[in-house]
Amino acid sequence: MKHTDIKDLFENSDRYLDGSVTVCGWVRTWRDSKGISFIELNDGTCLKNLQLVIEKNIVDENTVKPALATGTALNVTGILVQSERNGYELNVREITVLGDCPQDYPLQKKHHTLEFLRTIPHLRPRTRFFEAVLAVRSELSFAIHNYFHRHGYKYVHTPLITGSDCEGAGEMFRVTTQPWNVKAGSEEEYYDGDFFGVKAGLTVSGQLEGEIAAMGLGRIYTFGPTFRAEHSNTTRHAAEFWQIEPEVCFCDLHDIIENAEDFIKSIIRDVIANCPDELAFFNERTEKGLIEKLKNVVESDFVKLKYTDAIDILKKSGKDFKFPVEWGCDLQTEHERYLTEEHFKKPVFVTDYPAGIKAFYMKLNPDNKTVAATDLLVPGIGEIIGCSEREVDLAKLKEAMLKRNMPLEAYTAYLDTRKFGSVPHSGFGLGLERILMYITGVQNIRDTLLYPRTVGSL
Ligand code: 4AD
Ligand code: MG
Repeated sequence: MKHTDIKDLFENSDRYLDGSVTVCGWVRTWRDSKGISFIELNDGTCLKNLQLVIEKNIVDENTVKPALATGTALNVTGILVQSERNGYELNVREITVLGDCPQDYPLQKKHHTLEFLRTIPHLRPRTRFFEAVLAVRSELSFAIHNYFHRHGYKYVHTPLITGSDCEGAGEMFRVTTQPWNVKAGSEEEYYDGDFFGVKAGLTVSGQLEGEIAAMGLGRIYTFGPTFRAEHSNTTRHAAEFWQIEPEVCFCDLHDIIENAEDFIKSIIRDVIANCPDELAFFNERTEKGLIEKLKNVVESDFVKLKYTDAIDILKKSGKDFKFPVEWGCDLQTEHERYLTEEHFKKPVFVTDYPAGIKAFYMKLNPDNKTVAATDLLVPGIGEIIGCSEREVDLAKLKEAMLKRNMPLEAYTAYLDTRKFGSVPHSGFGLGLERILMYITGVQNIRDTLLYPRTVGSL
């Protein structure tokens, strides 16, 4: 269908001004008065609507009437003119309704609550809020690929169906083709009859396969969906989320922290440059001062803080935390929030966590108590990155696995990376929805995904 994007009209108005153009889109709002009607048309190419001005002595009233309904899809031809209020508007000559939209269309009001919109995920993209979220999500994804491409990382696609639980937290969704009522005398017998002949699940992380690829390619990243059957019913957990996992050879914890900080700043800078309208919208709608916050983050140094020192700060805070703070405890959201929102007021890399609360693959520090790992915590969200230098000492790695009751035989391929030409290497995982929440000020992860999957809700 020959037409011009509304974004193009606004960006290259000189070319279109005072000429005839055809646009397509959906009616966001409309007003009707005696001799004249107004429609705010949006086509998804930009956040701005194009105002249509319809004079009834120019356009036949019978063709205007069906167009005056929120949600209706139109093809409109008219003359683009300058206007004081809107910058530009279209003086309509011809209207064709592409798809009408009856009165039971649920998005009749100008503003709907996010809770209400979650009940109609199939219509959410037609709202200004979701158009903005999805536009930033798209720009952010592109910025991420762009960063790694510029820095010589190879993009690898790791399997989604896997037999190994990378994080070892037992939060894998099972993948099976067995009927629900299959009879089996043992677990082994059950999986014998299954599609793969062994227990299989959806990946919680592409890291282990990413490490294998990095061992030949030097510097790789993955960017794909990951799945966790966590029962955490919070505003920051989804059962299906997208993760970006770079893996870098010849790189220690110190180096990877530098990479991660540079990466985060670079992708935020790109979004600031490429999504001004969306950020201005969120600055009003979700978080006052959002743009200022992002600009500060790009300019300032992130804090680097040892876990042991974090515990000291928390203990001396005088705060009455729900979860008591002791060396060895995992940091809870309330602790992360205190550190990032009250104490430092900026992103913080907490490093050198106790080995007991972290995954098996992290390099044991010389103190034999802590690991060369870090989480990047940010105000308002908490953890957005999990990162570590990997254990490359085969004996220590096996010991860490056995301590966690992991079946070594299921990880022989992974262990081979330590046996054949092993090198120091490090990597991290960034949750796409978490950084998107941070950049947009959106408070609930359910509002960053087209179709959020959370416990009890598909
Ligand atoms: O800290 P995590 O579990 O680390 C890993 O998976 C490592 N294998 C990463 C690596 O070193 N390659 O998860 C990484 C990030 C978290 O910091 C968080 O941003 C996000 O993934 N994440 C989730 N996001 C949404 N919903 C969930 N349930 C998430 N679980 C983790
Ligand atoms: Mg983590």
